[in-house]
Amino acid sequence: MAIPEEIINEIKYRNDIETVIAPYVNLKRQGKNLKGLCPFHNEKTPSFTVYPENGSFYCFGCGVGGDVFSFVRQIENLDYIDAVKLLAERSGVTLPQDGYDDSMQKLKNTIFEINHKAGKFYHQYLLSPEGKWALDYLTGRGLSIATIKHFGLGAAPDGWDNLIKHLKSKGYSIADMIQANVVGKSQRGTYYDRFRKRVMFPIINIRGKVIGFSGRAMPGDDKAGGKYVNTSDTPVYKKSENLFAMNFAKNHCDERVILVEGNMDVISLHQAGFQNTVAALGTAFTDEQAKLLSRYTKEIVLIMDSDAAGQKAVRRAGEILQNTGLEIRVVVLPDGKDPDEYIKKNGAARFKALLEGAASEIEYKLLTAVDGIDVTQDDGKLKYLAHAAEIIAESNDVMTRDLYIGRLSDKYGVSRTALETKVNDLRKRKIKQYEKKVFDEVTRPKIDKSDVNPEKRIYPAAVAAEETVLAVLLQHPDFYKIAAEQLKVEDVISTVNRRIYKALCECIELGRNPDLSYFGEMLSAAEMGYLASLANSEKGDKNPLVVLKDCIKVILDEGVKIKTKDVKSMTVDDWAENLQQIINSKKKGENYNGRK
Ligand code: CTP
Ligand code: MN
Repeated sequence: MAIPEEIINEIKYRNDIETVIAPYVNLKRQGKNLKGLCPFHNEKTPSFTVYPENGSFYCFGCGVGGDVFSFVRQIENLDYIDAVKLLAERSGVTLPQDGYDDSMQKLKNTIFEINHKAGKFYHQYLLSPEGKWALDYLTGRGLSIATIKHFGLGAAPDGWDNLIKHLKSKGYSIADMIQANVVGKSQRGTYYDRFRKRVMFPIINIRGKVIGFSGRAMPGDDKAGGKYVNTSDTPVYKKSENLFAMNFAKNHCDERVILVEGNMDVISLHQAGFQNTVAALGTAFTDEQAKLLSRYTKEIVLIMDSDAAGQKAVRRAGEILQNTGLEIRVVVLPDGKDPDEYIKKNGAARFKALLEGAASEIEYKLLTAVDGIDVTQDDGKLKYLAHAAEIIAESNDVMTRDLYIGRLSDKYGVSRTALETKVNDLRKRKIKQYEKKVFDEVTRPKIDKSDVNPEKRIYPAAVAAEETVLAVLLQHPDFYKIAAEQLKVEDVISTVNRRIYKALCECIELGRNPDLSYFGEMLSAAEMGYLASLANSEKGDKNPLVVLKDCIKVILDEGVKIKTKDVKSMTVDDWAENLQQIINSKKKGENYNGRK
């Protein structure tokens, strides 16, 4: 269903692209544009560009691009309509009701409201005279009132229906309270507060909304049934995709983030000045959580208890982080203490020192590779060293390799040369494999499925000309009449460009300005990226009218060629010429992407 143009414009007007993107990307001004690290792929130098002038963005690294709606759609994983709704809602624009289903968005809003009201209820109760038992507990664990307020901590009163009554008085239905997972239904069919006589930690998403709760029982409360009660997944909360305190940490973790296990650890580290600390909300650290972190930071320091479960968690985390390209270091706290206890006992300075000296990933791998191998026996020792050599060979730094080769040869009494030879052999093999892979990629070009316009490989000249025509028209819609006279929609050779050109013509004929938002509904996310790159390209910068006409001529000429001889009837020479063109265009592409 199409959302009326005026509404789209109104939403865009109220959500300028800079403001929308700013919470997700640290943008730095560069001339009239802004640049930052792309939130959609991992990079160390910024290639994500925002163009306030035409309200678009484009990443030169991964090709993602579009307008505010495309951005929200992709970063929040929504479809187009939901992205429009989200921005509408945020800026107080009302959408027409009928025509499309917005019941889900309504439910989500209600849950957000319920969570917000519940959080406030718990917080006020904690700070009221009745909540003294909980406040005493928290301050007894060293939290200041300022910290308690900062995190919006609360307490759930003892009793079955305190929250139910409160929310009812605010007009919410039991059904919605259940959807928010703050209320449960017993087998007898009665309703009850899920959180009772517990200290409450609100879970807040990166946009500052309360999405759930974690409730801790009082120590020694035998009737509590479980140390923690947590919100289960709801329409607004997926614990595998969120991290406790990420709403704060995201502003303090450009360099590194500290990942701990418990909510209390997070809070006490924040209080001690480590505001880049998060916790995984009682789940095993997931890929989604790693991905979220990789949008904000370069390095993760894992702090775990030294118990067995902690070690296992560390290994799992290591696997996941390896896939994200983030640096990872592990700190195992001495004496099985958790970070909360450690920092209280030893102070922030000591903790900082521990952080700085965190074992490197390679050191950690070498350490854990011993598990299950009896290194007091010769065969065990050899087995371990073979494995260790593989770990060392992974490092691209000669000093690092040298360091560990030295340490291991000392420790296990093997000659340094023997170990070094083994490591070097492994490295040679690795390099060969890498080279072979690169060679295969060059000699056997695959059609990339994510390639938005695959026909470019078959008709490189025509498609390049088409792209320029589109770029010029997006930037200079006033040339439309000239283009429309000379280039009919059917003349456009590649399918995607034909579709875009057709839409562009319709748009201009309707008297609308062809900005990216016009295409939001009809193009896929990848195609929007393609269009954004054209809209911001320099193709139409110089002599746009001349360029436009030249390119139209190229398209028409190429069209004639294609019609007169299809590939099957090509002579060998034609075929060779065609192939040469494909190779040339591929070479250009490689230079452009010229990294290893
Ligand atoms: N957790 C949970 N359910 C449990 C136990 C733990 O969801 N029954 C999760 C919580 O998110 C908790 C984390 O695992 O924060 C770590 O557990 P634990 O170390 O037992 O708790 P702490 O938060 O450290 O609590 P405390 O220091 O008060 O003992
Ligand atoms: Mn603890």
